[in-house]
Amino acid sequence: MEVMCMVSCGRYTRPHFNLLLLIILQFGLHTVDGVWPLPQTFTSSAERYPLSPQALYFVYGSQSAAQQGCSVLDAAFKRYFSLIFPDYTSGNGVLRFSDGKPFIVEVSVDRDDCEGYPNEDSSERYNLSVCAGQASLNAQTVWGALRGLETFSQLVYEDDFGTYFVNKTEIDDFPRFQFRGILLDTSRHYLPVKAILKTLDAMAYSKFNVFHWHIVDDPSFPYQSSTYPDLSSKGAFHPMTHIYTQSDVRRVISHARLWGIRVLPEFDSPGHTLSWGKGQSDLLTPCYSGSTPSGTFGPVNPVLPSTYKFMGRLFKEVSSVFPDSYIHLGGDEVNFACWKSNPDVRAFMQKMGFGADFTKLEAFYMENIMNITLALNKTSIVWQDVFDYHEQRSSLSVVEVWRDGCYLCEVRRVTKAGLRVILASPWYLDKPGPTHNWARYYTVWPLAFKGSEEQKKLVIGGEVCMWGEYVDATNLTPRLWPRASAAAERLWSDEKQTSSVDKAFPRLQEFRCKLVRRGIQAEPLYVGHCKHEYQGL
Ligand SMILES: *[C@@H]1O[C@H](CO)[C@@H](O)[C@H](O)[C@H]1NC(C)=O
Repeated sequence: MEVMCMVSCGRYTRPHFNLLLLIILQFGLHTVDGVWPLPQTFTSSAERYPLSPQALYFVYGSQSAAQQGCSVLDAAFKRYFSLIFPDYTSGNGVLRFSDGKPFIVEVSVDRDDCEGYPNEDSSERYNLSVCAGQASLNAQTVWGALRGLETFSQLVYEDDFGTYFVNKTEIDDFPRFQFRGILLDTSRHYLPVKAILKTLDAMAYSKFNVFHWHIVDDPSFPYQSSTYPDLSSKGAFHPMTHIYTQSDVRRVISHARLWGIRVLPEFDSPGHTLSWGKGQSDLLTPCYSGSTPSGTFGPVNPVLPSTYKFMGRLFKEVSSVFPDSYIHLGGDEVNFACWKSNPDVRAFMQKMGFGADFTKLEAFYMENIMNITLALNKTSIVWQDVFDYHEQRSSLSVVEVWRDGCYLCEVRRVTKAGLRVILASPWYLDKPGPTHNWARYYTVWPLAFKGSEEQKKLVIGGEVCMWGEYVDATNLTPRLWPRASAAAERLWSDEKQTSSVDKAFPRLQEFRCKLVRRGIQAEPLYVGHCKHEYQGL
């Protein structure tokens, strides 16, 4: 049986299948219905195999480095069983007895990396072969195996009589970009932990792999620091109910890990820090009106040694709480008016020879913060403002491009300086808008700038931003989905195969119904219906 399968579906015959695929695509007979984002290479045929909840088994391959007891895969097998048979696990389904023929999904990974965390170098490549009444999934890492299980779950469909099937399929898949993120802002509105966990689930369905947690900002400081507990007890909207305790944070990180998602914390400074000042006196710059303090505060005070001592201790804590090797340091939208008004800051400028150029002061501040995180072995990400201001660029490593306008011009400049780029500008999804403009987020071409191959390689990915001014747990999900999925396909799939909005539309509609079926309140794209409408009211 196994040999037969190798011969008829394995790599020996792949060239053949690719040819067949070309023909299929040409005549539009079959597409990979409902797999979103589109896999890099695939073939499928009309040969199909029935599946039933009584006889679907996920097993570890005998040659696999990960054997029984791999926490990531064990948890994934359970989750995907429920996702494939939603009625069965919710108790709504009619229990039908299968003919007893088991359908086995054999999962093999080259590396036994079950206990670790996904990181910037983790391979997410997988090969999925559904053939002769069984499936085999091979990946280099458990993170790749997770992506393959997601694809497998999307291949399974139910006919009108409630029987589940999966067609004969061969897929070789890997992401186009390594960094595919979603930013949530928990400062402008507090998001309950449950809302974050649910977003992580939905992210995995679209193969996103980074949760950028913009955890604090001007309006509130919900992160409960063990070193500086006053930051949240005085700076959160509420010191008990609107905070993230250390155990909340651990819960988010471990939930994300089980989906192969990295958690990237952002502690944005020196601007966007008003809430920090409530729990930490002398941290913010006192603004002056004429020769007297006005009673208001500006950005972090860059002239006091105590500032860097505080930041050093805070980032030391943050670096050990969040396992990811990246940390986001912000550095955007610093308002210089307060610094300008303060006589101590002006004296410092003089002493340092900065003249009247406050961008030099910001660069000086960021340089100090980046040195702190560098010493903690973290790779720092900053918003593009820091690149724009920074003369000495050697200490920068990853720049996130967010400003509107000619963002590809900025991508070109940053990569020309030899720095890595994450692109966010075209994916500000917090701005409300009709769902049908999902195509705006789809027709983005991140590498369409003049530059060398080396420059293009420096574009490590992109990010959907969901800022929180107008977003809380009531509208987060429909505002994100399915529009974020459009960005997800742009970041995962081959650009040439996914350049047509018209071709993508029916597949995205089907995927959106799949999200709804999984309990995600994804907005409709246009007139139509799902076989299973949203029931979670
Ligand atoms: C799966 O098989 C059925 C019939 O066996 C066919 O109608 C359908 O088009 C196939 N789907 C794909 C994606 O090949």
